[in-house]
Amino acid sequence: MGVSPSPVHVFLSIDAALPAVPAAVVLAVVGYAVTHVAIKYSRDAFVARGLSGRDLLKPWTDRAVPECMGLPAAAAYLFMLVLLVPVRYLGAETAQDPGELAAYLSALLSMHAGMLLGFVDDVLDVRWRYKLPIPFLASIPMLVVYIAAGGATSVVVPAFPPFLRDVLGTSVDFGVLYYCYMLMLATFCTNCINILAGINGVEVGQAIVIALSVCINDLLYLDVRGAVRGVFEQDEELKRTALTDVERRHLFSLNMLIPFVGVSAALLAWNRWPARVFVGDTYCYFAGMVLAAAGILGHYSKTLLLFFAPQVFNFVLSAPQLFAIVPCPRHRVPRFDDGALVPSCVYMHNSSPLAHGIVAVLEALRLVRSIRTDDGRVVGTTNFTLLNALLVLRGVRPQCIAPLNPPEKNKDPIIPVRRTADSPKITEHDLWRMVMGVQVLASLGAFAIRYWLAELIFP
Ligand code: UD1
Ligand code: MG
Repeated sequence: MGVSPSPVHVFLSIDAALPAVPAAVVLAVVGYAVTHVAIKYSRDAFVARGLSGRDLLKPWTDRAVPECMGLPAAAAYLFMLVLLVPVRYLGAETAQDPGELAAYLSALLSMHAGMLLGFVDDVLDVRWRYKLPIPFLASIPMLVVYIAAGGATSVVVPAFPPFLRDVLGTSVDFGVLYYCYMLMLATFCTNCINILAGINGVEVGQAIVIALSVCINDLLYLDVRGAVRGVFEQDEELKRTALTDVERRHLFSLNMLIPFVGVSAALLAWNRWPARVFVGDTYCYFAGMVLAAAGILGHYSKTLLLFFAPQVFNFVLSAPQLFAIVPCPRHRVPRFDDGALVPSCVYMHNSSPLAHGIVAVLEALRLVRSIRTDDGRVVGTTNFTLLNALLVLRGVRPQCIAPLNPPEKNKDPIIPVRRTADSPKITEHDLWRMVMGVQVLASLGAFAIRYWLAELIFP
């Protein structure tokens, strides 16, 4: 003791307790640099090929912002994961378990599919009924690996209220239904980031918070103390401890997510407000697939969903528009008005009583705000997204600025609005911080549910 440990010693002793984690950290740093450089030198080529978009919330400029820059990021990430294969699977440690390499490769396959689907969507704007089944199919290899690894299909029944266990027993086996749930999880994860999108930095920001939360959760299962002790016990022989199955799975997830955080951080540096590049659907689908793969193959899909709480909320809130009960315009992001944001609004022409009922309930919950004629008839509403809901909750009120004519046929049913004079000024950057705050709070809540509430109801 006394002498500070050499970097090689630190690397080796952490590697002994947490195999391949130091290598994953190195790849995260390399991935950051590679992504940064790849974006810097490829963005003009994307614009030249027409892959660019206008920043909807910067009306003072019509600069073409390179779109789909998730592609270089995803490519850099997949490259890093390929480099991790020999590190993880050539050692004597993991060579005992060739099944895990199959899991790793099935994850790579699904992530490639996610990236490709996103890219095709960016280039061709695929209708969502066509693209919906693709993540479903893309995750079949992961599911096969899950089944082969003896992954559970049963769910523990809560001990509270007590009659549940009297009726159902301590656990219920869902069998094939559980596999369907996992395929749907992959489909959900790939789409949910894409629909919580549209302000600078929000797509990558949410993915980074979720990934970091999952990493922390993984570390809670691993021998972090052993790693720290190893670093300071210089004279000790490095000894590798045998890992349990649960430890192996969390190590697997951690190894995959550390480089993802590195690559995403580089993308965020370009995409944060004011955005110099857009991430595109390529990143949204790819990131969703990375997180789904980690959750499915790490056997913690239910915990993963806890970390996706804001996305689940946004999806449920969006459902009436996604399923066409309420009209859904091409873009639902808030609008820019005089230095701040105002919720975007949609015209409810010929909407059913059900649609009006939904608006009434959501308005009572202060998640949306209806647009009314002078005689109080509801003719429109703010779009059903978390971004608009946060503005509504904070008291930003839209006010119609044109006569409320029914929209022309085949045109987006958007109501032109501005902020009322008494609305607070919330900028795009403020809203980004609010969403990140919500995401962090959701993670804290997820940890509380997972480690405190779960102890109470699943003793
Ligand atoms: C999804 C949302 C849509 C939202 C859009 C914004 C649903 C059903 N769809 O559609 O409501 O408006 O994402 O991404 O919820 N853009 C910005 N600033 C940003 C990011 C994107 O202005 O920070 C704009 C750019 O013009 C960019 C475009 O959004 O070109 C990308 O939209 P796209 O990914 O094609 O929209 P969708 O995924 O179809
Ligand atoms: Mg998108």
